[in-house]
Amino acid sequence: QLPEKVKIIEVGPRDGLQNEVEISLSDKISLVNILSHTGLTLIESGSFVSPKWVPQMANSGELFNRIKRTTGVTYSALTPNLIGLNAAIAANVDEVAIFGSASESFSRNNINCSIADSLRQFEPVIKQARTAGLAVRGYVSCTLGCPYEGYISINKVAKVAQQLHDMGCYQISLGDTVGVGTPEAAKAMINAVSQHVPIDNLAVHFHDTYGQALANIYAALQLGISVIDSAVAGLGGCPYAQGASGNVATEDVVYMLNGLGIESGVDLSELIAAGNFICQRLKRPNGSKVALAYPAA
Ligand code: HMG
Ligand code: MG
Repeated sequence: QLPEKVKIIEVGPRDGLQNEVEISLSDKISLVNILSHTGLTLIESGSFVSPKWVPQMANSGELFNRIKRTTGVTYSALTPNLIGLNAAIAANVDEVAIFGSASESFSRNNINCSIADSLRQFEPVIKQARTAGLAVRGYVSCTLGCPYEGYISINKVAKVAQQLHDMGCYQISLGDTVGVGTPEAAKAMINAVSQHVPIDNLAVHFHDTYGQALANIYAALQLGISVIDSAVAGLGGCPYAQGASGNVATEDVVYMLNGLGIESGVDLSELIAAGNFICQRLKRPNGSKVALAYPAA
């Protein structure tokens, strides 16, 4: 039973551009502003992390202060700790996300601590965010494999997802950080997680490294998942997941949803224009197959 409607979480300005050094702040702001008029309702626009770890996101505060906010669009950011949360609140972020992992070694490489320590650190972040009136989303990375450890048990994924949900995250985004998953593996993982977290509180976040993302999304839709993370033009990767290519392209997801008769509210041609804009600025070919095939306006 496929859902009638799907919500797309646009992560391009964050997950995509966190890897890019050669992009100006004004181009980032333009991208968020253009995306704001495509029908997308949630744009993960930046990240309040240590500038020593991810210098590409160091100007997120300024970005949030300068974007033109559109009614009906939620602008969110990553906040791994209280320093990040306070900076996000000061920049009037609408919603925040914390990011845990199902893999110990990825956790240590990405946020410099064990899974257990990360959960302890997220607790006050979630509490204070909610006191400030901000909803908190939770990511679980490495749900279908880890760049350092390879195989990750689906029970570990389910456990971390449940803990983040119990701690107050309104939605858990299941990340295939390295894009190694295939549809039946994705289904098994989602089924395991949904024993502990209601399916309506789950989202999927596929990177397309091995070209499996759309197939995996279709598998997830069949299980009733109705929230999909994607990045315009297939921007992205993760600075701590070597070889990870971009997120699934939002254009390709919207095209597939249109074909399935599933409503997303996103205008495909406006979205393609946004993707073409950023690819032009990055001086690189568009990572969306749909964008490449789409007749030029
Ligand atoms: P840490 O290095 O362990 O140390 O940081 P710390 O907390 O002791 O802080 C060290 C220094 O950083 C201090 O400065 C702090 O003030 C500063 P110093 O005294 O040395 O001058 N600092 C900060 N500055 C600004 N904003 C902050 C902040 N926190 C500390 N928030 C930390 C731990 C988690 C902060 C660090 O490891 C970090 O920033 N990691 C971020 C890694 C990251 O952004 N990864 C990419 C996003 S995750 C992803 O892409 C996966 C996802 O897409 C899902 C998927 O695909 O699976 C979400
Ligand atoms: Mg990601």
